[in-house]
Amino acid sequence: MCGIFGIITNQDNISIGKVVLEGIRRLEYRGYDSCGIVSLSNSKLYIKKDSGKIEEIQKKIDLADIPSNSKLALAHTRWATHGKPTRINSHPHTDCSNKIAVVHNGIIDNFIELREELTQEGHIFKSETDTEIIPHLIENKLKEGLNLKDSVVEALKLCKGAYGLAVCHVDNPDLIIVVRKESPLVIGIEEGKTTYLASDIPAFLPLTRKCYIMEDDELAVLKAGEAEFYDIKNDKKIDKELQIIEWNINAAEKGGYEHFMLKEIFEEPSALKNTMKISEQLLSKFANALLSADNIYITAAGTSYHAALAGKFIISRFLGKHIQDIECSELETQLKGSLQNNSVIIAISQSGETIDTIEAIRWAKKTKNVIILTITNVVGSSITRYSDHVIVTNAGPEIGVAATKTYSTQVLALALIAVSIAKIRNIISDEEIIKYYEALNGIPSIIEKFLEKNVDLIKYIVNNLEKNLNYFFLARGISIATAKEGGLKLKEVACRFIEGYSAASAKHGPISLVREGFPIIFIAPPDETYNRLVGNVMEFKARGGRIISVVVESDEKITKLSDITIRIPQPADEYHNLFSPITFMPALQLLAYYAALANDLDPDKPLNLSKTVTVH
Ligand code: F6R
Repeated sequence: MCGIFGIITNQDNISIGKVVLEGIRRLEYRGYDSCGIVSLSNSKLYIKKDSGKIEEIQKKIDLADIPSNSKLALAHTRWATHGKPTRINSHPHTDCSNKIAVVHNGIIDNFIELREELTQEGHIFKSETDTEIIPHLIENKLKEGLNLKDSVVEALKLCKGAYGLAVCHVDNPDLIIVVRKESPLVIGIEEGKTTYLASDIPAFLPLTRKCYIMEDDELAVLKAGEAEFYDIKNDKKIDKELQIIEWNINAAEKGGYEHFMLKEIFEEPSALKNTMKISEQLLSKFANALLSADNIYITAAGTSYHAALAGKFIISRFLGKHIQDIECSELETQLKGSLQNNSVIIAISQSGETIDTIEAIRWAKKTKNVIILTITNVVGSSITRYSDHVIVTNAGPEIGVAATKTYSTQVLALALIAVSIAKIRNIISDEEIIKYYEALNGIPSIIEKFLEKNVDLIKYIVNNLEKNLNYFFLARGISIATAKEGGLKLKEVACRFIEGYSAASAKHGPISLVREGFPIIFIAPPDETYNRLVGNVMEFKARGGRIISVVVESDEKITKLSDITIRIPQPADEYHNLFSPITFMPALQLLAYYAALANDLDPDKPLNLSKTVTVH
């Protein structure tokens, strides 16, 4: 996820530099590892870009460097996906002649092939990004004699993937071309005077409340104070309705959601779709490293550790080897004296900056010949420096302190590695592999359906539980990870001591807490542990426990024993069960979110916590 902002005006009293910097700053929540601006004046592009937070870059950009007679500018804030967050990789990107500038949000899936072809034709690339192919493709089309608009259309026909993009050209100083496909774009208008473009409404909300929302496969030609829209598939003009935005800026930044945490839970389906795009080649690098290792460890902290527990379970199904999970803060102490050469450590950290995780892998690398396989959400983060191979989950920036979408995408990345191992080992049939992929591909829509229909039920459960300061999440098998993560979310954001625990172990002690009405939330997908879990539910019910269960839609047995059920709309088969840590988790995340609200707490800023933990 990145942020785009742009302006084209005929007004003399506007400081273009100030407006674009202010506009892009309001999109910083969409990405903050680098930033760039292009303005156009006297048939020349003026580009300023660098890595770092917008605030730091703003200090470096002298407004005098942006020509005062410039009437057009584009800006970009980046969240790196292809290429590290460096100055060269920052947007805007240009063509060989330095006449075309492009800012882009999204991913061009086939950029490697296109880049190879363009390089063979003689185009020179400066960055490692997928975006840079776009100005070069447009350059080619212009050379064929097409105008700028048609060149953009024809260039994009060659690109597979997602884009919200804006293009300017020195020979067309009075227009900007923007196109949307699966990456948001909105156009703000001050009629007859100024037109703005942005990835999100807050960027121009203080300047105008009038806007057009672009849909997929639409192109807009923007001129000062006017916008024309076209259907990119047939070049037909579209009449769009001008909308008046009533939100305040705060609500707008969160896309209309009250908090980032809620927004990020609702972003899980699209984040997971992005994670599904991890290349088969990279997955098989992870798979082969695990297959040739003598010893395998998986390490992380907090929520990432819970993803590790779920992932370890899924990978072990197909790997035929044991994986030992160790909290990163304990790795050195536990493995001192026993770490061997030819070991592999899977390290998971959404931020890539957690000091305990980094120190654990640095120690292991220093001590023996080990391979580090890392899963992170941040390209170029510190952890990647000590890693042999890196998977980036591409969940987009997560602003809420409590990890939500980064958790589900971590588990998905691990699940993809697992299926890759199954394929390489040839231990299950092709039909079964297809079924696992179908189950994986279906996860986003299962979560979408769940979120669409269950918010009121979760609010009802929160009200129902409100008087209880303590309760349990209990589960067996793979769902113990889900129970633990659910407990952590409630501790973090709702400040309640809610424990996630093994349902089998609970009778060896914790069951003594149960009194009439004591709530227990059972996580109960219909997997091989289900029948035993039914027994556990009965034990707790017999002692007066109030049973709330998270089950699949067709569930009967545990539903009959429960006071309330949360139903996850997924099929009851072994393929979906294996990925239930992903599909069952949003229910518990929502529970934590609404429990925080019920306790008058800000779920985005839990007490005593920070998003990146760089202390021991
Ligand atoms: C919980 C949470 C933390 C992190 C932990 C590790 O919601 O966010 O428990 O999971 O601090 O952080 P990363 O994944 O950045 O290493």
